[in-house]
Amino acid sequence: MFETHLFQGQRVLVTGGGTGLGLAMATRLAELGAEVHLCGRRLAVVQQACDRLQADLGARAFAHELDIRQPEAVNAVIDRIWSAHGPLTALINNAAGNFVSRTEDLSINGFHAISDIVFRGTFYVTQAVGRRWISEGLPGAVLSIVVTWVDTGSPFVVPSAMSKAGLDAMTKSLAVEWGPRRIRLNAIAPGVIPTQGASQRLRPRIEGNEDSADRRRLDNPMRRLGTDEDIGNMAAFILAPGNSWLNGQTITLDGGDALANGAYFTEYQAWDDADWAHARQMARAASRPATQDAAQEGAPA
Ligand code: HXC
Repeated sequence: MFETHLFQGQRVLVTGGGTGLGLAMATRLAELGAEVHLCGRRLAVVQQACDRLQADLGARAFAHELDIRQPEAVNAVIDRIWSAHGPLTALINNAAGNFVSRTEDLSINGFHAISDIVFRGTFYVTQAVGRRWISEGLPGAVLSIVVTWVDTGSPFVVPSAMSKAGLDAMTKSLAVEWGPRRIRLNAIAPGVIPTQGASQRLRPRIEGNEDSADRRRLDNPMRRLGTDEDIGNMAAFILAPGNSWLNGQTITLDGGDALANGAYFTEYQAWDDADWAHARQMARAASRPATQDAAQEGAPA
């Protein structure tokens, strides 16, 4: 699909790059010759991912411990990359946090847990990298992972939907503001690409709940769910060095799902209190390692 050495000489930072979609995109870019930098809250997870990329692909892959909610830590990591390796050529804003909840049940801390990662943290990283590109007169490319619900909205994930819509607005706004600096911003709005992190938090299996992977597959016009290859190839296309006139776009990658089926999670309207308690328990269990030594995997469902 792409020339083998398309990303030779490129240096790409992937936030939440140790697992899920972040790792899928990092893998594809590394296959195509990019030097990749993966950051996440659990150093062991990003380090293991880098080790595998080195062993399997001979890739130049570097791990950085980072909670993107901390602007000073963001700056320190970007500084370290710049001084130890050289300027980044691209940034993938992939790190995210999410869980399903009735909005009336959300605590203020719960709202912040999601919006501080997705909305604020993504801005911190984008600004930190963009500032360096601008001060050094370098071109750059930013790819942010949003979701189809930037168009459809989505019940039961309101902090995520609001935050992702903010990233869509950031993409369009900075595409115009930073375009003259040769910095372009685009986004992918993926549909359902199953990853462990998202499935546990967004699609807990509940007896009587028909929202299974099978049903989602059959409802999709292409009769399948998304794959790591789908998002890896789209990321490579958007960030390809020769693709310098693509700017300010959010590209939906969902097999036509949103056109056919609209917003996600509408079926959760039927859930009762016990279902919601179970969903919360499942999401909390998925986050337990994250709350102990911190995980940020960014994994759209
Ligand atoms: C209700 C919850 C909750 C849940 C946490 N909270 N989980 N409330 N239901 N399931 C509340 C807590 O009670 C607390 O509020 C507050 O949120 C903070 O909780 P912490 O556990 O301290 O948060 P933290 O350790 O910062 O964890 C952040 C997280 C966690 C977002 C909650 O899930 C996480 O780290 N996720 C990272 C990975 C991830 O989510 N991947 C999936 C991304 S999916 P109180 O009031 O009690 O103090 C994605 C989807 C997009 O992005 C696209 C899909 C198609």
